[in-house]
Amino acid sequence: MFEHITPYAGDPIFALVDAFNQDSRPHKVNLSIGIYFDEQGRLPVLPSVQEAERRILAEGGAKPYLPMEGLAACRTQVAQLLLGPQHPALAEGRVATIQTVGSSGGLKVGADFLRTWLPNSDVWVSDPTWDNHRSMFEGSGFTVKAYPYYDAATGGLRFEDMLACLKGLPPRSIVLLHACCHNPTGVDLSSAQWDALIPVLRERQLLPYLDLAYQGFGQGIAEDAYSVRALAASGLTFFVANSFSKSMSVYGERCGALSAVCASQAEADLVLGQLRYTVRRIYSSPGLHAASLVAHVLGDADLRSMWEGELAQMRQRMLEVRQALHTRLCALAPQHDWGYVLSQRGMFSYTGLSAEQVDRLREEHAVYLIRSGRLCVAGLTQANVDRVAQALVKVV
Ligand code: LMR
Repeated sequence: MFEHITPYAGDPIFALVDAFNQDSRPHKVNLSIGIYFDEQGRLPVLPSVQEAERRILAEGGAKPYLPMEGLAACRTQVAQLLLGPQHPALAEGRVATIQTVGSSGGLKVGADFLRTWLPNSDVWVSDPTWDNHRSMFEGSGFTVKAYPYYDAATGGLRFEDMLACLKGLPPRSIVLLHACCHNPTGVDLSSAQWDALIPVLRERQLLPYLDLAYQGFGQGIAEDAYSVRALAASGLTFFVANSFSKSMSVYGERCGALSAVCASQAEADLVLGQLRYTVRRIYSSPGLHAASLVAHVLGDADLRSMWEGELAQMRQRMLEVRQALHTRLCALAPQHDWGYVLSQRGMFSYTGLSAEQVDRLREEHAVYLIRSGRLCVAGLTQANVDRVAQALVKVV
């Protein structure tokens, strides 16, 4: 029956995690997958999340199916976290939020919805983008193309080229944008650049689809949602898929959401209905525990402020290890320009290393990066940063 199928080559990110786990070298360092580790190299369990779980268990409620769109309390909190509680779009009823199975689940539900309702559109992703974006949208039947983004010469953004490309797209093209902490490059648009981009999206009648997987890992909760709030204020219709995997350190719980911010309440109601139907056809309804966690942490004033503090600590630690890596690299190889380590934001830095150089890092030094040259800053600690810097300098 299945002898004809092609073997799966493996995922470029998860395959490295497997290889890392099998590596017996004690000094190995995992800078591959986008997971935040603490200063001791452990995956943290945030006290706010632990307390939410304690309360959920103490409440001892039954476990009914959630509706297709997820738990109401979770959806309300998510919409407010994205837009800020006072955003007029919320009061105007223009936001349709559904709880999803991680933000990947949200991206997929959105992709299937769009394939049905904008069947003649292509999807445009940044060059480069998260490896799975292309597969997900192609999996929903789209043709996926790339707009210019990362500038290998400067380690920054090709903003003018990006704008010029978007200005040439047919109306209703779907444009996937990283709201903050771009994966894999760590290169983000400034607020002024978002302000310049939004009129282009409007004039060309494009559909922005934001991926917000790292809210709070860049500059702060509100700052990292600048694009979401500005797009909502502009009155454009757009999608945003967001995740709590990193910001609450709840990777395996699959806490995420998809929101459609629409031009009117009537449009939002229509979209919500079809999103519910899309969910029903894929996984029927999302998980209760994920929803309860998000609703408790965001909805309770004490837990919310604990979580915001914990998130700020993670953000701060990533800045400190970036600084430490930069300092050591400059000391070891002052002739080289290491400025990108500091200018890029969030969990990732794009080193510009070739796949062969990344292979040497792994094979000769037990330092694991993604073969695109992406380095997960959140796997650095004060204890391993020197070894990583020494290894990097040996392969550049
Ligand atoms: C990553 O980019 O490493 C993370 O978002 C994890 C994943 O699912 O790929």
